Order: sequence, then structure tokens, then C-alpha cells
Amino acid sequence: MPKAIEDIIEGVENLNALDGLCDTAAGWVARATSRDAVKNALSGTWLSHPLHPVLTDLPIGAWVMASALDLTAGGSGAASARRLVGLGLVATVPAAVAGAADWSDTYGGTRRVGLVHALGNVVATTLQAASWAARRRGRHRAGAALGCAGLGLTVCAAYLGGHLSYVRGVGVDHTAFQETVTDWTEVAALSALTDGVPLRVTAGGVPVMLVRHAGELYALSATCTHAGGPLDEGAVLDDGCVRCPWHGSVFRLADGAAVRGPATVDEPRWDVRTDGDRVYVRSAR
Ligand code: FES
Repeated sequence: MPKAIEDIIEGVENLNALDGLCDTAAGWVARATSRDAVKNALSGTWLSHPLHPVLTDLPIGAWVMASALDLTAGGSGAASARRLVGLGLVATVPAAVAGAADWSDTYGGTRRVGLVHALGNVVATTLQAASWAARRRGRHRAGAALGCAGLGLTVCAAYLGGHLSYVRGVGVDHTAFQETVTDWTEVAALSALTDGVPLRVTAGGVPVMLVRHAGELYALSATCTHAGGPLDEGAVLDDGCVRCPWHGSVFRLADGAAVRGPATVDEPRWDVRTDGDRVYVRSAR
């Protein structure tokens, strides 16, 4: 990353003055997305993939094509360019809502950068709205200039979004680089397990959570796929699931399936067997 950009992003990450606005806005979003169905829909749990990056392709693609028409087709492309700008404006609404849901689960410097990313997109969208209005009044050149400015700002905001994902790990599977343990590995004494109380163990250097529930023994990775929370410190639910203590994602003990977001990736499952009082695990195939 060029040093100047690195310095700017670091400056935003350390800008404590944003915290009041961050906390207020994140509180609104958290309340609005507190229902399981809403959280699952906006996070992308149903898609097994974060929804926000999928949706952002639509407005960005529409606005790129509008500016491409402005540059290459002149007046003959004016009507199509105006429709594309309008399409981008409509498509930006679900993208922003899904992004807000993801952002509300971030903290500290990551949350501050996310806020600036969002504000940049708000200004970019406002410029595109002004572009659409100018085009509608027949002022194609002004509309093209406003659209170009909006697109430039969108690219800057997208850079911050990429920083959040690829540098800060927002939205990535936090178990992606876990080792696969193929050999049965002794991890605990069966007598050390209390029904419904997770036990954190380690197999081949990988943290694993053992749970005995309703007479069955289960093992899942102990690192939450969403943001790396300690799943073994979560609550085991009556329906055979475990709830992460950090953001409330719920995973089924039997197969690790993410049944409540914000997690979009299932929790890695481990095979378990016992021999007398000894418990062994290995990565499930
Ligand atoms: S770390 Fe976010 S739900 Fe587990």
C-alpha cells in the first residue's frame, strides 16, 4: 500500500472523535437488525456468503457503464446512461442496508474506517442522484461530470471496503487457515465434561470445543467463523445449537451449520470417538 494512503487509513483508524457517531449509529442498526430473520437475510447466512459485497457490484457496475457511455457514446447514449444511473441509485439501497448490518458488528478502528467508507458512499450516491436529476433536465454534460465525480468517490470508498476485508479481516472465514488434523488425537477425559457446558481443548494446535448435550458428544472448532470469537464461551441452547458470545451467531452442534447470522460460514465439525474415559477427535472429512 502506498505510504500516503496507509497514513490516511491509519489516521482514520485512530480518530477517536468518530466514536460517538459510530456508537449511536451502530446502536440504531443493531436494534433494527435484532430479529433473527432480518440478521440472517442481511448478513447472507441464507446464501452462505456475505451479502454486502455481492450487492455492491450492482450500483458500481451500473455507474461504471453509465460513465463509459458518457465517454464513448456522447449524446446518443444519453438516455441509456441516465437509466443506468437510476438503476445504480435503486441498487445502492439494499447494498447499503446489508453493509450497515455488517458494520454494526465491528469495533474500534475497523468501525471508524467503516463509518468513513459509508459516509463516502453517501456522498457518492448524492452526486449520482444529482447526476440523474441533471440528465433528466437534459443537461447531459453536467450529469456526466457529476456521475464521474460520484464514481471516483465510490472507488475511494470501495478501497476502504477492501481494506476492511483484506487487511482487517471483516467478513472473512476466521477458520479458513486452520490445520486439518487427520489422525485421531486424544484431547480430554470424558469425565471432565459436564452436560451442556462446552470444554475447550486443542488438537494438533487447533482449538476445538467439546460439548455433551442430550446424551451425545459433539466437537466443533472453537474459533467462530464470523470474527474469531471463542465459541466455547458461548451458551449451549436447548435445541442442540451453540450461540457465539460475541455477536450471537448460532451454530448447530451436530453439523456446524450456521443457523443464525451474522456468521455466513458453517463452523468446522470434528469427528469424535471415545475409548473408556478418553475422548479423541479428528477433522471431519
Ligand atoms: S465472532 Fe461474531 S458471532 Fe462469533
